[in-house]
Amino acid sequence: MIGIGSDHGGVNLKRMILEHLQNQGFTVQDFGTCSTDSVDYPDYAQKVALAVAKKSCQLGILVCGTGIGVSIAANKIPGIRAALCTNEYMARMSRKHNDANILALGERVMGKDLAIAIVDAWIQEAFDGERHGIRVRKIAELEKNSKEWLKDE
Ligand code: RB5
Repeated sequence: MIGIGSDHGGVNLKRMILEHLQNQGFTVQDFGTCSTDSVDYPDYAQKVALAVAKKSCQLGILVCGTGIGVSIAANKIPGIRAALCTNEYMARMSRKHNDANILALGERVMGKDLAIAIVDAWIQEAFDGERHGIRVRKIAELEKNSKEWLKDE
């Protein structure tokens, strides 16, 4: 299951990606928003990121105007590695080296065909493991330890 969500700035691209993935045979859960009425992107990043963190969705895709807001917000949820990608190489590498579990895209900063090509590249790629596994585990350690490090002395 792939979870997908957006704010109003990403709703048109979200709809296109959703249809594209469904046409390819993927099961996709749409977490909204479903109109161009103004909403707050952290609310939709939260829905998709929690579904991925709780493993009811294997992977997630988030879209806002630039992709920046949803990626920053999703990365606040433990276990989430959201990657904002603007080309296919970044998309492939975010899976291979970073084991990204959420793809963030910006509707206002790229054409539809490029966005779809990025989604396809991202979905088809897998994590390389090995030395990259050590680094991804270190990201989890940052998450685990940062509260302690930030405590007043
Ligand atoms: C909404 O206008 C816009 O700020 C949002 O879609 C996104 O680009 C934020 O990062």
